[in-house]
Amino acid sequence: MRLKDKVAIVTGAASGFGEGIARRFGDEGAAVIVADIAEDAGEAVASSLKKGKFVKCDVTSSADVGEAVELAEKEFGGVDVLVNNAGTTHLRKPMLEVSEEEFDKVYAVNVKGIYLGAIHGVPALKKRGGGVILNIASTAAIRPREGLTWYNGTKGAAVTLTKSMAIELAPEKIRVCAINPVIGETALLTSFMGGPDTPEMREQFISGIPLGRMSRPADIANAALFLCSDEAAFITGVCLEVDGGRVI
Ligand SMILES: NC(=O)c1ccc[n+]([C@@H]2O[C@H](COP(=O)([O-])OP(=O)(O)OC[C@H]3O[C@@H](n4cnc5c(N)ncnc54)[C@H](O)[C@@H]3O)[C@@H](O)[C@H]2O)c1
Repeated sequence: MRLKDKVAIVTGAASGFGEGIARRFGDEGAAVIVADIAEDAGEAVASSLKKGKFVKCDVTSSADVGEAVELAEKEFGGVDVLVNNAGTTHLRKPMLEVSEEEFDKVYAVNVKGIYLGAIHGVPALKKRGGGVILNIASTAAIRPREGLTWYNGTKGAAVTLTKSMAIELAPEKIRVCAINPVIGETALLTSFMGGPDTPEMREQFISGIPLGRMSRPADIANAALFLCSDEAAFITGVCLEVDGGRVI
């Protein structure tokens, strides 16, 4: 049990990578707050965990993120791990065709969400004498593809914030790391592709990945488990590619 007696909040845990992380953490003994805007799917994930609670939480709302932290403290006694996984993208298209509204939304969820996670999460982590913040960034930050320019920028911010937060929070014994997944088999896939999920379209993306496939929730969950466990006690500020070699 690598997360025995730990309490984790995982945002965007109703599906995809977040669901994989919540389930893996649950299997390793953690109590998990499933924080998502998707109610039915989020409830279903939370109720299938040994110690799971769902909270309807929009990570762009300070009140909602505050409530998620309060729920963790009330139900499970505190917070040890915060996974900022909730994310969205604009459709893959030329950069000048992305509307201001789409731009604002992707920055609100992917960047402001990390800010609000820190505002509400750091005081709770401090109460426990330290902990871990894990940001789900992307290979898009390191090796951007065309058509996703503004989304790529949000993930660049996530990587820089990870390193900056790691420095500033080290004296508090709060480690801050990130995972950079390569394109993965989740609900966001067709938006990243910018078209229907056909074998030809998949081949176009897979051809740039040396290990020859897309990422899967289990790949991201296994890396998250390591980085959030005490096995990674001396690791902070690391942005770990889980990408089958894509950024080499
Ligand atoms: N799938 C990929 O190819 C890929 C690659 C690299 C990084 N990522 C990142 O991984 C993370 C998870 O995405 P995924 O691929 O599992 O997609 P997903 O759509 O399956 O999961 C995203 C979850 O976030 C939730 N969400 C969206 N907006 C929210 C908000 N405002 N507040 C709270 N929850 C919200 C959704 O309801 C959903 O459950 C994102 O940050 C994404 O940018 C994905």
